[in-house]
Amino acid sequence: MKFYITTPLYYVNAEPHIGHTYTTVAADCLARFYRMKGYDVFFLTGTDEHGQKIYEAAQKENLTPIELANRVSETFKKMWKKINISYDRFIRTTERQHEEVVKKVFKILLEKGELYKGEYRGFYCVHCESYVNVEDRKNPICPDCKREVREISEISYFLKLSKYQKQLEDLIENSEMVKPDFRKNEILNFIKSGLNDISITRKNVVWGIESPIEEKYTIYVWFDALLNYLSGIGYLHDEELFEKYWPPDVQLIGKDIMRFHYIIWPAVLFALNLPQPKKIFAHGWWVLGKEKISKSKGNVILPQYFIDEYGVDPFRFFLLREIPFGLDGEFSEENFKKRYNSDLVNDFGNLINRTLNLIEMKFNGYVPEGEIDESIMKISEDIYKNYTIKIENLSLSEGIEEIWKLLIFLNKYLDEKAPWREGSIDVEKTLLSVFYGIRNILIFLYPFIPQTCEKMIEMMGLEKNELMCFENINKRYAGRIKIGKREIIFYRKK
Ligand code: MSP
Repeated sequence: MKFYITTPLYYVNAEPHIGHTYTTVAADCLARFYRMKGYDVFFLTGTDEHGQKIYEAAQKENLTPIELANRVSETFKKMWKKINISYDRFIRTTERQHEEVVKKVFKILLEKGELYKGEYRGFYCVHCESYVNVEDRKNPICPDCKREVREISEISYFLKLSKYQKQLEDLIENSEMVKPDFRKNEILNFIKSGLNDISITRKNVVWGIESPIEEKYTIYVWFDALLNYLSGIGYLHDEELFEKYWPPDVQLIGKDIMRFHYIIWPAVLFALNLPQPKKIFAHGWWVLGKEKISKSKGNVILPQYFIDEYGVDPFRFFLLREIPFGLDGEFSEENFKKRYNSDLVNDFGNLINRTLNLIEMKFNGYVPEGEIDESIMKISEDIYKNYTIKIENLSLSEGIEEIWKLLIFLNKYLDEKAPWREGSIDVEKTLLSVFYGIRNILIFLYPFIPQTCEKMIEMMGLEKNELMCFENINKRYAGRIKIGKREIIFYRKK
């Protein structure tokens, strides 16, 4: 079984901030989850490097566009490495191979009669890299970002989007592609209000892939960028790879780029006669006092501070735990700290510290042998079922809530059995059972906070690869286990 997952390609006009990190961490969590279920996973991410916006950003810095793209795509790669993003391929839209695929697709569509030459008259927003309708032609501003837009009037090649209106309506209404469900209506209403054909070449934009037909045209940056989901997986150059993974199982996007992904993207696939993605999930925004966090708003929050102050995994954890995936959420250090202290220090860190300390004290570091309490096996199994449903449904924070049910259960179990107290009974069974309960928790948490789980499993005296497969839930090891070197992983923050 295969699982193909993608993130949007990030523009290289900004360094990675928490918005970009969010989509990527969520995709990483899903990629790891499916690998643990035994799927053959392909996880694609990368950078979007053409277009007027990048061209102007480079000019401001006195760089050529490719110099800027080289620098910023490296910072994305470095950030993903730092926070343990397990992508299989990082694609840059300036790669030769991608450019060739884009040109070939352009030709195929032209030959199939899906493109035609015409005149585009209208407005263009460079910030959104989008053709827009304006309310007031005298004072034209972008309906989305409210910036000034440019009027253009030029000959260009159009994609016959209007032709697919009915098919798109059917797709959105009757398939599981648009997720969460509550996004469907907005998109449907937009489509039903009528689709115009879309211009996919630009005459006066120099920084773009040249049209294979007439060199004076470059290809519209969104048309170029969307095709990465095909070129990154071998389309038109590695048929075997492409056949193996197409179509995407999950494509993650932010709600700001829904129209491109729910309308233009499927229309291109219809035009190419390719199967549609199974799910395109639009998540919400991280906001600060209702404003989207973004470079242009000047309110970016960089991951580095939180990574230095709290660690990579607390940062990953917060992003995925704090707000239901799909909705907007307020990013604040106060909330971060609360989450960190209550969930990671109190509930999680303390449980593992207490348990391993007791094993050390009472049994010289050897995990006692005997029977595991049935209740812990049973609750682990039940939680595994619910947790799987939640994550497959992309309810990531609810997946963590399921894990917390086991954590809370184990903390309570340990408190009630109080194996530290003089004369308490069943000390072996209690510690052995909690030990295995924690091992299950580490497996469940691995997609979310892999590095921490690896450290902790070693502290428990077990091998890292025990984490990487859900079949190991409730697995019993033969032989005696000696716990490893212990350390405190989460320190309380004031
Ligand atoms: N280059 C296009 C995407 C092309 S995909 C073929 C683009 N790039 S972007 O860098 O501006 O942003 C990409 C994604 O970053 C958004 O869709 C969203 O996933 C994420 N986010 C950027 N800011 C965000 C927040 N403040 N909050 C959550 N995610 C946001 O659009």
